[in-house]
Amino acid sequence: MGPMGRDGEGFLTAASLLHPLAVLVLMLGGGDVSGAHADPRPSFVLIMADDLGIGDVGCYGNTTIRTPNIDRLARQGVTLSQHIAAAPLCTPSRAAFLTGRYTLRSGLASHGRVPVLLFLAGSGGLPPTETTFAKRLQKQGYTTGLVGKWHLGVNCVSRGDHCHHPNQHGFHYFYGLPFTLFNNCVPGEAIDILADVELALRHLSLLLGLALLTLVCLCASGLLSISGRLLATLTGLTVAAVAVWYVPFGFLQTWNCIVMRNQEVVEQPMVVETLTERMLKEAQNFITRNAHQPFLLFFSLAHVHTPLFHSPAFAGKSRHGVYGDNVEEMDWIIGQVTETVDSLGLANNTMMYFTSDHGGHIEDPIRGGWNGIYKGGKAMGGWEGGIRVPGIFRWPGRLPAGRVVDQPTSLMDLYPTLTHLAQDTEADRALDGHNLMPLLEGSSDRSEHQFMFHYCGIYLNAVRWHPPGSDSVFKVHYFTPNFSPAGAGGCHDAQFCGCHGDRVTRHRPPLVYDLLRDPSESRPLTPATAAERPLAEVLERVAEAVAAHRARLAQEGPGGPPTQMSWGNILWKPWLQPCCGTFPFCGCHDNATFAG
Ligand SMILES: *[C@@H]1O[C@H](CO)[C@@H](O)[C@H](O)[C@H]1NC(C)=O
Ligand SMILES: *[C@@H]1O[C@H](CO)[C@@H](O)[C@H](O)[C@H]1NC(C)=O
Ligand SMILES: *[C@@H]1O[C@H](CO)[C@@H](O)[C@H](O)[C@H]1NC(C)=O
Repeated sequence: MGPMGRDGEGFLTAASLLHPLAVLVLMLGGGDVSGAHADPRPSFVLIMADDLGIGDVGCYGNTTIRTPNIDRLARQGVTLSQHIAAAPLCTPSRAAFLTGRYTLRSGLASHGRVPVLLFLAGSGGLPPTETTFAKRLQKQGYTTGLVGKWHLGVNCVSRGDHCHHPNQHGFHYFYGLPFTLFNNCVPGEAIDILADVELALRHLSLLLGLALLTLVCLCASGLLSISGRLLATLTGLTVAAVAVWYVPFGFLQTWNCIVMRNQEVVEQPMVVETLTERMLKEAQNFITRNAHQPFLLFFSLAHVHTPLFHSPAFAGKSRHGVYGDNVEEMDWIIGQVTETVDSLGLANNTMMYFTSDHGGHIEDPIRGGWNGIYKGGKAMGGWEGGIRVPGIFRWPGRLPAGRVVDQPTSLMDLYPTLTHLAQDTEADRALDGHNLMPLLEGSSDRSEHQFMFHYCGIYLNAVRWHPPGSDSVFKVHYFTPNFSPAGAGGCHDAQFCGCHGDRVTRHRPPLVYDLLRDPSESRPLTPATAAERPLAEVLERVAEAVAAHRARLAQEGPGGPPTQMSWGNILWKPWLQPCCGTFPFCGCHDNATFAG
């Protein structure tokens, strides 16, 4: 057995207690150390899918979709069955994941209509004052890399300040999409961004243009005479309307669909056909070149977000159309990454993790996304389907194989788990996650999340309570999104549900479910059906917890952090636009020369 085996690992751990130098000496004397490094701290490969539903995965009960590689990770490691995202949408969920804190604390929770960053050249993003787990690990000597989707902003006040960029947030290396994959990245697909605003601006330009044309014709034929000044004003307005409509919206693909390597734009607009292959190679190369030292790789997949591009090898192979093909391709990617870790002999000192940023988007039948028995999906506030996601950890030799943990856990738990394993003991800000190691290893069977708070934008939507000594998991909903058409199970008319105003129904008293007995949230408890404890007690305990939670958040300072999600921070600012070439003539092609 090599130094990576169970014996070897114990030996390293014991040695490291003595003196770091002793480890080095022992390692040098210990001969071949293929793959394993002397550092007792593990490396991390975190894989996050985009928009994947918990019901899309074989080991979470899907019998018709093939995800053998994810299922294998689950067999070899620990599966979390109640793993909860802090928000049901990309930007806020990812902010909470990376910072280990509720999204309200970073200002990325939305007040209004727009719940995610819409333009790469907006000024909103993960504020420089926030700390990610990557930044902590970087300080502990880890080499850190992000391959794939970011969607947390790039610039603040000028092109190239990169205040929100992954490189400023703890990632030594970045290759991928500073924004996200979306329909506009492929010409001919639907428009994903502010389609109604686009339409309104388009109509306005058209109307102004028509009015101008009519006036000019009437004047030319002598039927009307108007002042030159009025004509000039109307011309100016028309030109302005066309510019405001056409420049940001007509070139959405160029502005938003780009690939960067570190702070350089290497492809604009991106070629989606080769993206999968390039991202996979980048992830594999990062692992290979850092095999000799502790590293963190966050592999943030573009799959299975629309437009569901996939390579020919997977086309038509699944039983669930393009969506299923996309899921199966994603599973293959995960298999390739796992293979890289294993073939380098890194398995036993690498913690692998797989999750999705939130639940599947069930409103569009073509998009797909299946949240199993759970109600709702992406962008539906606190309903379980939008926030309960896959969560799998694999670390052979350290974590038991095949263990299933039913306790409430959060994506925010990654931060304290990673810093714990990296032996980071420096003081930190207030965190909302908990170290998962006791649950994963089995030394504890109780989650430290007695309460969990589920937000829809900045609005507290629901609260989960797992009372001590009980198996019940109560969930209290203060409001629920109005489905449209009514009874549809989603907001099919609007594509996304809202979080406030007339788009929600407030419940007084709040709706209460017991997820243990009713995981689909189909039968709110009544005083007669609340068997375990009186409803009033549940509401009272939860109300106390909400008050305490709000008091903790208030410690961030009066009024909370500045919002990143105002219109001023979201809308397109030409002077912030990442661009290769001379703005506005941006364009370049990445010829797949992979960094060595
Ligand atoms: C498996 O996933 C597909 C794709 O989302 C879905 O259509 C199907 O209903 C799921 N099947 C089961 C048994 O969960
Ligand atoms: C990793 O650990 C497992 C379980 O302790 C052990 O069976 C296996 O041989 C180890 N693998 C390597 C490559 O050392
Ligand atoms: C990349 O490939 C394109 C098209 O094949 C070519 O026009 C361009 O010059 C190449 N760029 C570089 C930097 O090699």
